[in-house]
Amino acid sequence: MLQQPSKDTVKHGLAAGAEQRPERPDWTIEQAWDRYTPQEHAVWRTLFERQRKLLPGRACDEFIRGMDDLPIGADEIPNFEALSDLLIKRTGWQVVAVPGLVPDDVFFEHLANRRFPAGQFIRKPHELDYLEEPDVFHDVFGHVPMLMNPAIADYIQAYGEGGLRAQRLGVLDKLARVYWYTVEFGLLRQPDGLRIYGAGIASSAAETVFSVEDDSPNRIRFELERVMRTRYRIDDFQETYFVIGHLDELLRLAQIDFAPTYERVRQAADLEPGDVLDTDGVITRGTGRYHAAKRAGGR
Ligand SMILES: [Fe+2]
Repeated sequence: MLQQPSKDTVKHGLAAGAEQRPERPDWTIEQAWDRYTPQEHAVWRTLFERQRKLLPGRACDEFIRGMDDLPIGADEIPNFEALSDLLIKRTGWQVVAVPGLVPDDVFFEHLANRRFPAGQFIRKPHELDYLEEPDVFHDVFGHVPMLMNPAIADYIQAYGEGGLRAQRLGVLDKLARVYWYTVEFGLLRQPDGLRIYGAGIASSAAETVFSVEDDSPNRIRFELERVMRTRYRIDDFQETYFVIGHLDELLRLAQIDFAPTYERVRQAADLEPGDVLDTDGVITRGTGRYHAAKRAGGR
């Protein structure tokens, strides 16, 4: 899933031009649910039904349970007010509409206050697998089921607070990698196998299969410092997925001070997306076949 034009930048960074800046300082807009067209609801249905078939046995139990409990179905784009009514009771979160990507500080401020900014628009029928900015399918289908989980709810709020701090310290690129490899592209080891909890995977049909079944990517035990050093791919499947053993690991991350880790990471060299280190907890050593073929093809 393509999120930003330049390599290894924060995916929620400002992409929209200043002319698209909404009137409200927090960049929220009305969802204007009544104004979605039948064609837009039909795009939602296509995407929803495709993922509904793929996710059982691939997404983690918490994702499936969150989806089952939410007012999200195939027939129409969900109404953010209805989502928020339930979410606020479960974990204190709300979903607010934004035009697309928003500036980092605005994004972090929302998360720190348990508001999830969701793209109001939906991709066009010819863009089902290609996305420059997160739309309502990525943001709602991908992210909101996990926001029903108390550990993820606290973790993402802490990320918002940590993001504001990381900006001041000049280490936002390091923190963004943690978000990328957990909230967006995280895998979880359940007793019955590797499962998806990252929204970037759960909202992508091809990566849903690739991330858990293909022999090409590495799957490596999540370790904070390792992840902070690792660049990521914004324009294609990940070369490496980082795997946690339990969602409570993220809760523990939300409670620790990252400052000493930032200091160590600043001294260390960045790692490329496909690198594997002797010190890694390797779960699957990937063949690298998929990305090697792409590179050989000059893409
Ligand atoms: Fe996302």
